[in-house]
Amino acid sequence: MSMLALDSKLYRVPRWAFIKLEKGFLLYSDLTPTLFPITQNEKSALDVFPQSGILEDWIVLATNKFNADFAETLKYLHPLIHKMINAKFLALNKPLEYLDWKTQLVDNSNDGGSRTCYLSVTDNCNLRCLYCYNADEREHSICQGREALSDIEIFEFIDKLADNDFEYIVFTGGEPMLRKSIFTIVEYAKNKGLGTNLLSNGTAFTHKNVKQVVDLFDSITVSLDSSIESEHEATRGKGSWKRTIRGLDFLMSQSRHEIALRPVITDHNIDNLYLLPEFAYSRWNISSYQPTMYLPNSIKETKELALLPDVKKYAKGMDLFYRKLGNIPGGNADDPLKSISYGGKCGMAKSIFSISANGDVFPCQSLHFDELTMGNIRHQEIDELFKNGEALGIVGVSGLQIPECTDCPFLLLCGGGCRATTYKLYGNMTAFNELMCCYSKVGAENQLLRYYEYRKSLTN
Ligand SMILES: C[S@@+](CC[C@H](N)C(=O)[O-])C[C@H]1O[C@@H](n2cnc3c(N)ncnc32)[C@H](O)[C@@H]1O
Ligand code: SF4
Ligand code: SF4
Repeated sequence: MSMLALDSKLYRVPRWAFIKLEKGFLLYSDLTPTLFPITQNEKSALDVFPQSGILEDWIVLATNKFNADFAETLKYLHPLIHKMINAKFLALNKPLEYLDWKTQLVDNSNDGGSRTCYLSVTDNCNLRCLYCYNADEREHSICQGREALSDIEIFEFIDKLADNDFEYIVFTGGEPMLRKSIFTIVEYAKNKGLGTNLLSNGTAFTHKNVKQVVDLFDSITVSLDSSIESEHEATRGKGSWKRTIRGLDFLMSQSRHEIALRPVITDHNIDNLYLLPEFAYSRWNISSYQPTMYLPNSIKETKELALLPDVKKYAKGMDLFYRKLGNIPGGNADDPLKSISYGGKCGMAKSIFSISANGDVFPCQSLHFDELTMGNIRHQEIDELFKNGEALGIVGVSGLQIPECTDCPFLLLCGGGCRATTYKLYGNMTAFNELMCCYSKVGAENQLLRYYEYRKSLTN
């Protein structure tokens, strides 16, 4: 390894994060993106990396910090510098090439992939979950003065979706299983070649209907918040747990494997969330999860905010949950490096439509607000709905427009967070989501850490 000249200039990747390991740290930047283990001392030296990037300046600063000898510090840092150059965290005497993140975010914003329609087939619900983003529609299931869509109207709309390259319909609500004609509608969609997904609280599955459920829906997601009755019911209401468990028992008696569970993470279930994977695997063989952080509907309501877990508790709870899930067949950690730019990929109003039970069209299922109506399926054709969506000025909104996020080493993972929640909390799609940022950060750190450990276990 050749010694570097003291006047060498080192160009560093503009943003990096140190993620604590049991011993030492992981250095990570979404711009490289690599997971790079370093020692405590190496981190201390990187903490004083100089603005100038000149090697000599750095060694002087590190020498002072360590209260050490200049030549020894230089010798100590040499291998680190070479490794960092190889891993593309540093470049020598020429600007570092790293991921073109601005283009990444622009290219990926609003490119959620396959065209998907969230269809609320009813506003009615047999539960009253505390956090439900659909509460207004649920409580006034009068469809805001307009009649609910008839089956015929839904069939006509499904024809249009199929003709306009939509690939999936997610049947949701309210509780979609409460619509009497649900199976007729899903069968119609399936015959039109659309993928059919069900999002349900599971309480309406019976031994009589589960055969049809599994035959007609390509995938099924059930909202189960906890393996512990009282924790599930703290948010989803008294008596709800047994009903969902019984529904899942019926459903799984058809031994179907594409079932995912979707716990909403709150202060009530975070501590014992780690018990859910084993519970669901031993009872039903389920190992697929879509854990969803609770997204407050308002920043003014203290009872809403009280559902948010303390961030340290959240970090610990999610970490344990994923570790337990990792022990279950099929429940391994995902590669977060593959999902770079995931956060920027939001299909709202572009590849996602959300239709309320009265036919109003919104950019996504969390944005059913009058001012964001793109039209109504009774009156507008799909082209016009897309055009109206474009006119709302929210297509293409990405983390790039959030100044507070541009220095964040997790930006390409997080994308600045869910824009719908930001809109709900701050009334503005491009605001910085200060309330939820800390959860995104620890979520990204934990995910990277688990992945690092998982990769290490494969090589051991
Ligand atoms: C509105 S529900 C409709 C489908 C069905 N009734 C159910 O509960 O699964 C759709 C999903 O959103 C979740 N959800 C509702 N409000 C939420 C919130 N404020 N934050 C995060 N997820 C929420 C529910 O738990 C459910 O998984
Ligand atoms: S079951 Fe679903 S729609 Fe009903 S209140 Fe709960 S989250 Fe909302
Ligand atoms: S919301 Fe927070 S974690 Fe996400 S990109 Fe912005 S600063 Fe980073």
